[in-house]
Amino acid sequence: MRYILAPSLLAADFNILGQQIRETEEAGAEYLHIDVMDGIFVPSISFGMPLITSIRKTSRQFFDVHLMIADPVRYIREFADCGADGITFHLEAVEDADKVIAHIHKAGARASISIKPGTPVEEVYPYLSKVEMVLIMSVEPGFGGQPFMPEAYERIRQLRNYLDEKGLPVKIEVDGGLGKKNVRDVIAAGADVCVAGSAVFKKRSISENVSQFMKAFREMEELHRESFE
Ligand code: DX5
Ligand code: ZN
Repeated sequence: MRYILAPSLLAADFNILGQQIRETEEAGAEYLHIDVMDGIFVPSISFGMPLITSIRKTSRQFFDVHLMIADPVRYIREFADCGADGITFHLEAVEDADKVIAHIHKAGARASISIKPGTPVEEVYPYLSKVEMVLIMSVEPGFGGQPFMPEAYERIRQLRNYLDEKGLPVKIEVDGGLGKKNVRDVIAAGADVCVAGSAVFKKRSISENVSQFMKAFREMEELHRESFE
């Protein structure tokens, strides 16, 4: 499977969290997107290590931990130890991104760097030979359920073109406001990993919602294959 769905836990019902996570996994979501907020880098506070330690026991998914926290280097080892497979930090939250990337790799996780909608895409270029993924925010980080910002399409395309030109094997993840209406366009622009909170947890059934993403992924894979034939 070429494209990956990363359901964002922020939109889940925490009363029945384990069950909801299992539903996403069984329906085909390979990643689980875990938004950590500190009330400083972003206005809201979400959850942290104890939650990750606990859900690690129920899921074999790739734990894609999105740190929306100031000075993330302080906590990298702890997040890796409690079960993060990949750790994303914000370029805007650090002074020395190289140091953060090195810490993530040293802790045994995959490194990813994220930029907010107002940060020029070129600012991640110096790190592309060192990270496994770049997360392009398609909303201002801090809250789930916001509308997708269409300016993100051009930003995804710009990064995709640059990565292809340089032959760099870096995944592009897109986060914020994704759903069945725009997921095909997001992929066509160049995304590999699609984060979705509300569109997975807030409507109908989780397995139906995940299946719709899987269907869109299969269609886009088919299109991609045809365009190379
Ligand atoms: C926003 C978070 C997102 C959010 C996505 O700061 O990074 O992961 O949960 O939620 P939806 O899909 O509802 O926009
Ligand atoms: Zn996120």
